[in-house]
Amino acid sequence: MNCSLLPRGFKTNILLQRNLSPKLFQKNMSDGKKQGHCVSYADVKDAWKRIEGRVQYTPIFTSTYLDKLAGRRLFFKAENQQKTGSFKIRGAINAVAQLCENREKLEGNFCVVTHSSGNHGQALAKAAQLYNVPAFIAVPSDAPQCKVDAIKGYGGTVVPCIPTLQGRIDKCDELVKEHSGIIVHPNQTPAVIAGQGTIAMEMLQQNPDLDAIIAPVGGGGMISGIAIAAKEIKPSIKVYAAEPVNANDCYLSKQNGKLTHLKFTPKTIADAVKADIGTNTWPIIRDMVDGVITVEEEEILQAMKLVWERCKLVIEPTSGVGVAAVISQKFAMAKNFDESVKNVGIVLCGGNIDLSVISKLF
Ligand SMILES: Cc1ncc(COP(=O)(O)O)c(C=O)c1O
Repeated sequence: MNCSLLPRGFKTNILLQRNLSPKLFQKNMSDGKKQGHCVSYADVKDAWKRIEGRVQYTPIFTSTYLDKLAGRRLFFKAENQQKTGSFKIRGAINAVAQLCENREKLEGNFCVVTHSSGNHGQALAKAAQLYNVPAFIAVPSDAPQCKVDAIKGYGGTVVPCIPTLQGRIDKCDELVKEHSGIIVHPNQTPAVIAGQGTIAMEMLQQNPDLDAIIAPVGGGGMISGIAIAAKEIKPSIKVYAAEPVNANDCYLSKQNGKLTHLKFTPKTIADAVKADIGTNTWPIIRDMVDGVITVEEEEILQAMKLVWERCKLVIEPTSGVGVAAVISQKFAMAKNFDESVKNVGIVLCGGNIDLSVISKLF
């Protein structure tokens, strides 16, 4: 689809920068933002208009068996059935569409660049393809092969990089310089965060009785967008992040009251949440996320198996993080603090798996 055919009239802030200045992830300063937050509810609503008709309105699934385990009613938002196999397409389309709206200010043609262990890479490649924009994706050399193949399938150019955060950033920087590209960060770009917030808009439209939403946290784009939207639509709602114990930077940040990075590369089967939260997502998480529940590797695995078996849904291990959290003792204890949390929405964030790898886990 050509950008010139896109609807116009939305806010025209350029959210993304072409070069490597310190303001790499420039904040969108439109109205309605809380102090220090880079995204407002208005941004999420704009994102919903941009992505409508281009992404799936994913269904909600329930399971009485899992309800019993959790002691609450659970509502699973099946983003594993989303286009490109994860929620990531929401933020990617919002970001690329917004760039296209600002094409004149960008002085002509541009390409998009990112680093991703797979899902954001696939999503950005697909979004760029929709708008005829070239996409270069720095992918860690240990990323699942199915995710690499999918990025290529959507027309993205895959550039392997060292599988550390620094390795990803360095490669991304190289690509920006080489191709004069614009970075669409997997979780810190405001347009990406706003796009992910549309998950909460749909969930609360599908079930206005939700008392809480729980979603896995990596870089925090999804949980931040969800918190911004959900708390505006329903101020009483609780928003919880779920995180592997082995990658618990969000939990530590909340504990310490300041952004805290891990000093090592995390090892977890939930490969999509190895990333640390960042400077744009931390203020939102600090102010709007009610708690972080951490889960062990075995709990993630068992939760993933339960969803496969009981809901007949193909989810990747990272989706198991939120499920593990909601059926864990830690969450059960949270109930004692707040009896009002009866209906819980859980985001099954993705379903991209390498069958040859996953079958060894069963
Ligand atoms: C399937 C899946 N779940 C969760 C996440 C974490 O999202 P965020 O980095 O926005 O916290 C990702 C990120 O890549 C993902 O691909």
